[in-house]
Order: sequence, then C-alpha cells, then structure tokens
Amino acid sequence: MATRLDGKTTSRTIRDEIKAEVQTIVHQGGKIPHLAAVLVGEDGASETYVNGKVRDCNEVGFKSTLRRFDATISEEDLLKEVQALNDDPDIDGLIVQLPLPDHISVEKVTEQIRPEKDVDGFHPVNVGRMAKNLPAYISATPFGILELLKRYNVETSGKHCVVIGRSDIVGSPVSILMARKGNPGNATVTLCHSRTADLAAEVRRADIIIAALGKPEFVTADMVKEGAVVIDVGITRIPDETKKSGFRLVGDVKFEEVEQKASFITPVPGGVGPMTRASLLYNTLLAAQRKIYS
Ligand code: GUN
Repeated sequence: MATRLDGKTTSRTIRDEIKAEVQTIVHQGGKIPHLAAVLVGEDGASETYVNGKVRDCNEVGFKSTLRRFDATISEEDLLKEVQALNDDPDIDGLIVQLPLPDHISVEKVTEQIRPEKDVDGFHPVNVGRMAKNLPAYISATPFGILELLKRYNVETSGKHCVVIGRSDIVGSPVSILMARKGNPGNATVTLCHSRTADLAAEVRRADIIIAALGKPEFVTADMVKEGAVVIDVGITRIPDETKKSGFRLVGDVKFEEVEQKASFITPVPGGVGPMTRASLLYNTLLAAQRKIYS
C-alpha cells in the first residue's frame, strides 16, 4: 500500500513559511509581495481558480489585484491592460488566467507579460532559462511536483520517469526538470503523448509516473510497476448528483487500484493541486524579493 504524498499538508507548511517571511518583510519595512491576476470571461473553473489564488494571497499577507474583463474584450485592449500592469511598480507578479477566448492569442498575451513579473513561468524567456538551468520562474504545477518529491525525500536520481502528456504547462516542463542536473532531477525521462506507439508498455517501465494528460482514471494498475511513484496531475470534473456542487474531481489515475501497487501516490484532490497554488505564492515572493532577476 502506497504512502500518500499529501499536498494539502505540505502546501500548508509552505504557506506558513511564506507567511512568516511576509511578517519578517513587514517588520523590516520591505516590499509586501503583490500579485495581479487577470480574468477574461466567465469560465466556471477559471473563476474558481482565480478566486482561490486571491484568497491564498490574502491568507499569507500578500497584496492582490484582480482585474476582470468581459469575454468580448479585444486582443489589443487586453494587451494594453497587461502593459499597464507591467508598468505598475507596486505589482511584483502578474498572471493572466487561461484559457482565453478564441479571438485572443495566448502566445501574444503570454509574451506581453514582462519576464520579471511572469510568476506563472509561461513566458518563452522563463521557459528557455528553465531549460538551460538558469534562474527562472518555474511554472507552478511542475514546481509543486518537484517540491512535493523533495519534501518527501523521494529519490529521483537515476530513476526512469515516464511523463504522460506534453502540454506547455505541465508535461513538457516537468520532463525537462526531472532530467535536469539537481535534486529532484537526474532522472532518465520518457515523454509520452497521443502518438506514443505503446503507451502502456512505456508506463510499465517507469519508476516514477507523472500523469498529466487530462483523461480521468486513464492509468490503471496493470500499467504500473510494483513500487512505482505515481504523481497524478489530472483533475477533471465529473457530474455527480450526490455532491452539493453537482460534480466530483477525478484524477488521471485509477486511485483505488493503483494505490495498492505504488510506493508513493498523490491523491486527487489534495495532491498536486494545493502544491500548484503554494508554488504561485512562492514565485510571487521571489518576484517581490527580486530573487530571479536581480
Ligand atoms: N489555467 C490552468 N492552469 C493555469 C495556470 O497555472 N496559470 C494560468 N494563468 N492559467 C491557468
């Protein structure tokens, strides 16, 4: 039976560490970290995520600004709004919640954010610096995964890590990070995707599985080697009338059966999700302290 990698408790610890750091900053008369979030339209999940980020900021003592825009805002106007936040010296970190409406280019908006304020780590400058092992903002989910592995002392060096899913936000960066020199890191990484010839066979060879494809309960026990470490990034809303919200959250891993074979496993919810949230706070703290770009 696997040990659970408890993201809820671990993120609590990290948030407490950040809170203490903010108190020190306040005592010393330093700059209080300030995160600005931009939300376009009224997507239910995005709304929940952004509200959570603002709540997290308040909880640790950060300042936060939420700028909301109608889904009909033009790309040009949104780029101007981002520029205004770039130019605001009080704002340390700036994120634009994704997805954006179809008429707005995610690439253009991402590149509009100053790399120094890009606490999501989505700007090509930060992605490039991350890949070169230079100081960079590392996007929140990959960073949260690495931090969870580190705090549970999970050995990654020399291990075979199989990442499922090649998204810009998770699969691609986490595959780079796991292969980088460092701890966690030094793994031999296989990045699987929709064109992988025999995905189940690849996953069966893994010492560490990072499932980030967004297909509920895709990874089943027969695909998991005895003693593997299983990180579940998926979080899909499945309609469930027995719940007050009308849905339940399901990961990319069939938890009940995989838990029997794995050595470590992240639950959903309460695994990677809370770590992602804590990582954004951590990046914002780094931004306020000018730790990445000095
Ligand atoms: N949409 C889904 N995940 C994220 C994230 O980490 N940051 C932003 N800005 N949008 C997202």
